Order: sequence, then structure tokens, then C-alpha cells
Amino acid sequence: MENGKATLTIGNENWDFDIHDGTVGPSVIDIGSLYQKTGRFTYDPGFTSTGSCSSSITYIDGDEGVLLYRGYPIDELAENKDFLEVAYLLLYGELPTPEEKQDFDFRVTHHTMVHEQMSRFFTGFRRDAHPMAIMCGVVGAMSAFYHDSTDIRDPYQRMVASIRLIAKTPTIAAMAFKYSTGQPFVYPKNALDYAANFMHMCFAVPCEEYQVNPILSRAMDRIFILHADHEQNASTSTVRLAGSSGANPFACIAAGIASLWGPAHGGANEAALDTFAEIGTVDRVPEYIDKAKDKDDPFRLSGFGHRVYKSYDPRAKVMERTCHEVLDELGIKDPLLKVAMELERIALTDEYFVERKLYPNVDFYSGITLRALGFPNNMLTVLFAVARTVGWVAQWKEMVEDEQRIGRPRQLYTGSTLRHMTT
Ligand code: ACO
Repeated sequence: MENGKATLTIGNENWDFDIHDGTVGPSVIDIGSLYQKTGRFTYDPGFTSTGSCSSSITYIDGDEGVLLYRGYPIDELAENKDFLEVAYLLLYGELPTPEEKQDFDFRVTHHTMVHEQMSRFFTGFRRDAHPMAIMCGVVGAMSAFYHDSTDIRDPYQRMVASIRLIAKTPTIAAMAFKYSTGQPFVYPKNALDYAANFMHMCFAVPCEEYQVNPILSRAMDRIFILHADHEQNASTSTVRLAGSSGANPFACIAAGIASLWGPAHGGANEAALDTFAEIGTVDRVPEYIDKAKDKDDPFRLSGFGHRVYKSYDPRAKVMERTCHEVLDELGIKDPLLKVAMELERIALTDEYFVERKLYPNVDFYSGITLRALGFPNNMLTVLFAVARTVGWVAQWKEMVEDEQRIGRPRQLYTGSTLRHMTT
């Protein structure tokens, strides 16, 4: 490769392809004309070497453990900004001025109520429905309620849909939680900030006053910041692919929620907590480390390993600090924390994990923290979805404004060649 060109040689033929440089990070070889020139496709299942778009929102250096939102390190944002400031940054590219923040907070806050008829949707679900199943259905159903913000060609409607999604997803998530516990829905409270309002909708009941603990709501807010965006992961790519056909944003975000649900992605926090509980006590940790290393055993240590991070996930460090803060504030001595810390200690020195560069990811400590805040296991991925809605919306908006063509991958066909019916 030289002079911004890559040359592909097949047999005696050579073809040149342009190389594009980003502002930082690996360059890409533009193979958009590969099929036209060579009659061949690339083959990259799992997209391990494929850039699907250009984006200026989030940057990850997986080897160095760096995560930047619009250039700002995740730990600086988590320490100094609130979730809606970070949402503004992801959507518009810059941190808000005090006036912009006031205006954005006001607009999000005044869109948190959902159409009253939406509450009837919930009664159609079984009482024991997984709240992620409810999220997929009800967030998708927003496109049946907010027709005045589904024209993706209209910038004003795009803006209203973005605000609605960021404002109403927590309300729907809290309703899914309340439905599963059999308690009445709690309406949003405009006097509270984003995270405090969410906790209020989840934990208040009509028969008594509920005061949100500011230390806990700050922890909730920080958890939202850590999960807000993560460039072209499975769920974000799903949102972009769904959106590339021109589908409305509510349907696209519902597709992202479905993708996030899987245990290899957002479902890992629930799976990690289940694993800690299954292990139960510190003395059983070595047995589970052995299981994770055994090639004949499908067991994987959830909360460990990442497609992109080959060093410590920077979100996991902030998450670990937040976890200790929450447990200290509540005076909780969770035996699962001991199990997690022992797992981490052994894995960080074990040859299997060191060789494969398997470090704790953000899901490792988030389950214990959220459990201490009062959420049951099946709500953990829902909370991830609430936070990630901001990233999905920002990425969807960027894609629509870039006028990206419909996504249409090809395949390596391995089925039957042409054959005819015998009668
Ligand atoms: N436990 C045990 N072994 C593991 C783990 C794990 N958690 N993760 C990877 N490995 C091993 C694999 O067996 C493989 O070993 P091999 O080379 O001997 O075959 C090697 O490490 C590489 O693993 P891959 O599966 O090829 O890595 P990939 O990039 O495809 O997968 C993934 C990444 C899905 C995150 C994986 O590490 C995993 O399953 N982790 C557990 C689930 C999890 O925590 N997911 C959350 C990700 S973060 C998020 O979505 C917010």
C-alpha cells in the first residue's frame, strides 16, 4: 500500500483502491467498487475488519482502552457532566452552553409523558413477560402514536422524534417495571432531573412520599452516561441498517432494542449477575474459571471480553468506582461483589485470559450496582436500552443526514446449484 492506494492482485490482474484516513484510528480501504471491478465480494462474517460507515460521534481505541464521545474521554464526562449534557453532545457535536442546556432539559422534560392510550398496551402482555419484550413492542408502537414525527425527510420532525425517544423511553421502561411488579404506573415528575425522575417512576408508590437519594440518582445518571454510545456495535448497526431503508425512527430504535437483548451484547449484564449468583461463594470461583477455559464447555464468563477492547474497558473502571459508592451509601455488603472481585483478580493473572486479552467489560460491575439500587435482574438490559437510545438516535440522525444508501450486504452462496423438480 502506498500513496493512499491499496493494490489488490488476483492472478495476473491488479486493481487500485483508495485509502481514506480518519482524524485518528485505522484508515480504511474503500472497496465500494470491488464487485464492479473484479466480480468478487469481500467476505467478513461478524464484520471483524469492516467499516460500515463514517461517523464523527464516538471513537474507541480498543488496544489502549480509550472511549471518546465527540473527542471527550468517557471518564471526564462521567465525572463532570450530566446525562442530558452528554446526550446533547452526542446529538449536536458540542457540549451545550448554559442557555442551550436549559432549553434542551426543558424540551426533554416536557416530552416525558406518553400518550395515555399507550398504557392499555401493557395489559396485553403476560404478567411475567420479560421487560425487554415489552420494550421491543411498546417502543415500536410509538410509531403508531406519534405520526407527526415520522417523516424522516423533515428536519423538524426528526428533531421532535429524537426528543420524544430520549424523553419517553425511560417512562416506558419504568412502566414495564411497574407492570411486572403489579404496582400502578407512576407519572413523570418535571421537577426532577432525568435520572432522578426515572428512579421516582420506578420506585415511588402512590400511598407514600418517595425521596430520591441524590447520591444514588447521580450514580444512575453516571451509568446512563457510560452506556450512552459505543460506535458501530450490533444494536447500533441494526438501527442504522433498519434506518437505511427509510423506516421511521421509532421502528428503528425498537430494532436496536431487539438486538441489544442478546446475551453476547446488552444481555451480558443480566447473564453476569446470574453467573455470580450461580457461583455463590468465593471458594467456587476457581471451578468456574476452569469451566470458562474448557473448550468442551459452552460456558463463558459473562462480563469478560470484548470484540474491540483488548485492554481494560474504560467504562468498567468508572463502573467499579460507582459500584463501591452505591454499596457504601446503602451500607450493603453484597456477597456477589466478593465473588466478582475474586473472579476479576484470578482472571487478570490467569494465562488463558491474559493471552486472549480478556478483561472485565462494562457489564461486569453494572449488575451488582443496579441490583443494589433496587432493580431486579431482568431490568438490567432495559436500563442499558434507556441509556443507549441516545446513541442510537444520534447515529440514526447522522446516517439520515449523510443520505447513506440502503444497506444491502451480499453473501458467499453455499447451497444447491440450479436443479429442477422431478414429478
Ligand atoms: N469467557 C471465556 N472465554 C472467552 C470469553 C469469555 N467471556 N470471551 C472470549 N473468550 C475466548 C474465546 O473462547 C476465544 O478463545 P479461542 O481463541 O481459544 O477460541 C477467544 O477468547 C476470542 O473470543 P471470540 O469469541 O472470538 O471473541 P469475539 O470478539 O467474537 O467475542 C464477546 C466478543 C462476544 C464479547 C465475547 O468476549 C463474549 O462472549 N463475552 C461474554 C459476553 C459479554 O460479556 N458480552 C458483553 C460485551 S460488552 C457489551 O455488549 C456492552
